[in-house]
Amino acid sequence: MSLPRIVLSGSDQRTWASSCHLRIGRLPELEVALDDVSVSRLHAEVYLGEDGWVVRDRGSSNGTHLSGMRIGRTPQQIRVNDTIQVGNVSLNVTELRGRPLSIRVEGRSVQIAASAERSWDEALEAFEPSEERFQRDGRRFLKLMRAGYRLAHAADPDFALRQTLDEAVAFFGARRGGVFLTDATSGQLLVRTYAVAEQEALGRPPGKTLATVALRRRRSVLFKDSAEAAPFQADSVLNGDMTSIICAVLRSPDRELGVLHLDRGRNQEPFTEADLYLADSLAAAIALGLDRQELVTRHHELFLQTITALAQAVELRDTYTGNHTHRVTAYAMLLAEEIGMSPEDRRHLQASTALHDIGKIGIDDAILRKPGRLTGPEFEQMKTHVLRGAEIIQMIPGLRWALPVVRGHHERWDGRGYPDGLKGEDIPLCARVVAVADAFDAMTSDRPYRPGMPVERAFEELQAGSGTHFDPRCVEAFLRVRPKVEEMLEQEAVFRQKAESGALTVSYREMNQQLTSDTGAMPIPAAVMDAMSETPMPTRQG
Ligand SMILES: [Fe+2]
Repeated sequence: MSLPRIVLSGSDQRTWASSCHLRIGRLPELEVALDDVSVSRLHAEVYLGEDGWVVRDRGSSNGTHLSGMRIGRTPQQIRVNDTIQVGNVSLNVTELRGRPLSIRVEGRSVQIAASAERSWDEALEAFEPSEERFQRDGRRFLKLMRAGYRLAHAADPDFALRQTLDEAVAFFGARRGGVFLTDATSGQLLVRTYAVAEQEALGRPPGKTLATVALRRRRSVLFKDSAEAAPFQADSVLNGDMTSIICAVLRSPDRELGVLHLDRGRNQEPFTEADLYLADSLAAAIALGLDRQELVTRHHELFLQTITALAQAVELRDTYTGNHTHRVTAYAMLLAEEIGMSPEDRRHLQASTALHDIGKIGIDDAILRKPGRLTGPEFEQMKTHVLRGAEIIQMIPGLRWALPVVRGHHERWDGRGYPDGLKGEDIPLCARVVAVADAFDAMTSDRPYRPGMPVERAFEELQAGSGTHFDPRCVEAFLRVRPKVEEMLEQEAVFRQKAESGALTVSYREMNQQLTSDTGAMPIPAAVMDAMSETPMPTRQG
């Protein structure tokens, strides 16, 4: 193996070579002595660091520049053809040979066959498959490179990532692939997903030791002939045939997110350096998608928090509904998952449920907080909260998808609900889901004038209303998630104990009796009527 070496050339044809260290300055005893007043006595130094040749400033007056960028005392990696400018003097790096890169893993030395240390831009722009390779699978790789876009816009990000990894494993002829991402809390690399070639059994995910090394060094690495590396991959001991491994750093323009791992087995050709560079480019595309995905998730969370805060502001005007929005949303999400709603529909449902009673903002305080029984006309006005909510939602084009829930959550399966009297499957599914969640919460919540109904009975009431009030499919699904619901309620009990006992109130049962006698309508079972209630009927004390 040849010795490390660096050669610097000046504009006056002078050259300086070293295998370890060059000090640059005006002092005559230095290895690179420059007789120029713009150069400080000890200006900069070039030396062979752990990761290769580096240059750093030594506190010069006029500064040191590496290929146009001013550098400080922190060592900066040098590449061949870089220009090092000290004061007004320019030195070109005309030859550069590092020591063979190796890393220490668990007390042993593992050889690195090649490494790629590129910025995100470079990784994406400098993706250059060979002519022959481009002819053979250029199109497939271009398709693969769309991973970033696909991940950023996927309704189901986990599925999209897995699909990309499957394609990467096929494209690179890998035996196995994995995506490791850094856990925000622990800082540790965790397996996000892994895949194997078609003919392989899934087995265990790849070990993360080498991926961690690549990430720490912020460079993509190729471990070629990993006979030495194998013992350090926890599962390679079991599988015993991992001979070539690429760990490509998943880096976005701002940060490193994790590592894309690809490996080949003993009966395969090892990866080449060209494979490493292609994998590095793919990792940059994947990282961009993951980064954007995270941004979308954070944006969605912020949006949810904002509208939940808005909904809670409405709730605060009401006297009983403490935490109602949160619970109803949680029940609706459990139910939606159980009936197999798509992830995108579930995201919309979550935000819609938080907003379902937003129209109450348009109900007069005199009615919403009336300390006495609502009259028939007043109750009619209360019912308009669904239309008022729909008006609010329609004003915001980006929220149109919330309309079915906001407008339809008081429709009934038998067509006797409001505001449109829709029947059966004419009622949007998400509204039918919220109707069940809303009713269940109303039944089980403590009110100032009565304790919450036992869970057992609330489920019975839902069953009793199945096919009349509620969509039978939703009721059945809600019964199936009962253990999860009960678990949630146990946690809620802590808060319930803290709930204040409020003013004397009149139940909806009484209002129901009044209304049905006034209108001649069929009485609604008391428990369900309570569940339908939009607001308790606070009465004047005394
Ligand atoms: Fe409502």
